[in-house]
Amino acid sequence: MRTHYCTELNSSNIGQEVSVAGWAKNHRDHGGVIFIDMRDKSGILQAVCDPTHSQEVHKIATSVRDEFVLIAKGVIKARGEGLQNPKLKTGDIELIVSELIVENKSETTPFIIGDSTVHEDLRLKYRYLDLRTEKAYSIFKLRSKVSVALRNNLDKQGFLDVETPIITKPTPEGARDYLVPSRVYPGEFYALPQSPQLFKQLLMVSGFDRYFQVARCFRDEDLRSDRQPEFTQVDLEMSFCTQEDVMNVVENMLVDAFKAADIEIKPPFRRMRHEEAAEKYGSDKPDLRYDMQMVEVSDIFANSTNDFFAEVGKKPHINRIKALRVPKGDEFFTRKTLKELEDFVKKFGAGGLGYFQVKEDGLKGPLVKFFEDKDLQELSKRCALEVNDIVFFGAGEKKKVLDYMGRLRIEIANRMGIIDQNRYEFLWVVDFPMFEIEEGRVKAMHHPFTMPKSLDKENIEDIESIAYDIVLNGYELGGGSIRIHKESVQQDVFKLLGINEEEQRNKFGFLLDALKFGAPPHGGFALGLDRLIMLMTKSQSIRDVIAFPKTQKAQCIMTMAPSDADANQLKELGLRIRQANSKE
Ligand code: AMO
Repeated sequence: MRTHYCTELNSSNIGQEVSVAGWAKNHRDHGGVIFIDMRDKSGILQAVCDPTHSQEVHKIATSVRDEFVLIAKGVIKARGEGLQNPKLKTGDIELIVSELIVENKSETTPFIIGDSTVHEDLRLKYRYLDLRTEKAYSIFKLRSKVSVALRNNLDKQGFLDVETPIITKPTPEGARDYLVPSRVYPGEFYALPQSPQLFKQLLMVSGFDRYFQVARCFRDEDLRSDRQPEFTQVDLEMSFCTQEDVMNVVENMLVDAFKAADIEIKPPFRRMRHEEAAEKYGSDKPDLRYDMQMVEVSDIFANSTNDFFAEVGKKPHINRIKALRVPKGDEFFTRKTLKELEDFVKKFGAGGLGYFQVKEDGLKGPLVKFFEDKDLQELSKRCALEVNDIVFFGAGEKKKVLDYMGRLRIEIANRMGIIDQNRYEFLWVVDFPMFEIEEGRVKAMHHPFTMPKSLDKENIEDIESIAYDIVLNGYELGGGSIRIHKESVQQDVFKLLGINEEEQRNKFGFLLDALKFGAPPHGGFALGLDRLIMLMTKSQSIRDVIAFPKTQKAQCIMTMAPSDADANQLKELGLRIRQANSKE
């Protein structure tokens, strides 16, 4: 129906007869001549419907409204002197229409297409309209290019694209499962995969050696701006490999992915032990586009005359006192903003937020009176303080302090606007703890199939694993590990996680069996594709890079999913819905 996309046309087409197809935008009547911006996926071309040229076309054009579907034929002309629009790719030409077909009408749309101030819920209800913009199209064009580049790269590196089941047995990745009831076996359920983890390991037992899949994963977890209940991983697994081998494959793949987005990146990426990331940045995914490291000052505070600080400072095995130097912070923060920062850390469990201001004549602030000069000098030296800096302190239980001081670091960087938005700062975080204790229960920090370095440690939290995450600009972009390939080690890990033998057989019998039949050493990795595209396109939310995303409350407000099931369907599945508040 068309000879060209709108922005394929330029001054070299002047005098040519062409045909374009798309949607009407900005219909304007200028003293009898009607101008319509024709829009397709490529952009805009001005169509001119002049009654002196064609009465018929002009008559049709008077009935055209925004978002009508049009096919316009005519000749390309140069725009008149002074009528060029430098903001448009096609700003120096226009189409003089000699035939205009209205393929379809449109009601007035619920919002002006492309208006980003419209509430997201309304845009998501009419997502197909929200996507009808050049900006949205460019995001999905990039996503497609990057996805193809990733696949091509893995193909080049000898990986085989294999699909694994979607209705299957649960895979534990730390979230709740989406369950699918079985009709054939009433009362029994499949689960949607949280990742292809176990199947990719089984493919290694089959001897496939290198597997990959652009895999949809499903997790019923609390949603945030970088999390969706269904998302896409570029998932890979390889045999007879070390951590180093997996990292090389991933770095190689990322170079091609970024090349597809016209961005040059240069591996090898920096590496940091998990412990160092936690102690210096209060995070397992530090944003290294800016510095601001936390410094341990427990020993200095232990000397203070303030009972709380002295007490906390004397127990460095369970506590932390961290100093966060903010260069030029004293010039930036006012009494009001300091209070806001204190309220911010209080939300994350801090009792308060101490600070020293660095003035020409030394350290100032409410806490100074508790310290002797020599301790203040030591503090200045250790934190490398300079005049006009401010240095904040967090004191208390280790986990809490690292967490809120890490968040404070990010909050300050955002408020001060010191983050270079054009930088891509990659980091491998390595040597993760194998286990973490949450509400008294032992949990796998990565997943239970990760190879521990040694299980022979007195304190379970000191056991390290061969796991690695890749971090980009403060986001966890992907993660992986070397896996357990011996049945006995897998059973030991299950035991430490409190999974008894019966449960082991029930949940993971197939894996334990496979490990008995010649499982090779293997390891792998999964990259969050949505997160990658979010960062490449500098989008605010992961929802912007998913065609039909769920809301923060895991709903699709366009289709109104989830929704009630038909009574007959429930009966067939052997399910009965309990009334809310019923104790049954
Ligand atoms: P993990 O759970 O770390 O590892 O997931 C890998 C990557 O997937 C992305 N991701 C998400 N993206 C959007 N929404 C979510 N809800 C979400 N959850 C995770 C992140 C994350 O880094 N099987 C292991 C990988 C392996 O060991 O090979 C796994 O799934 O970018």
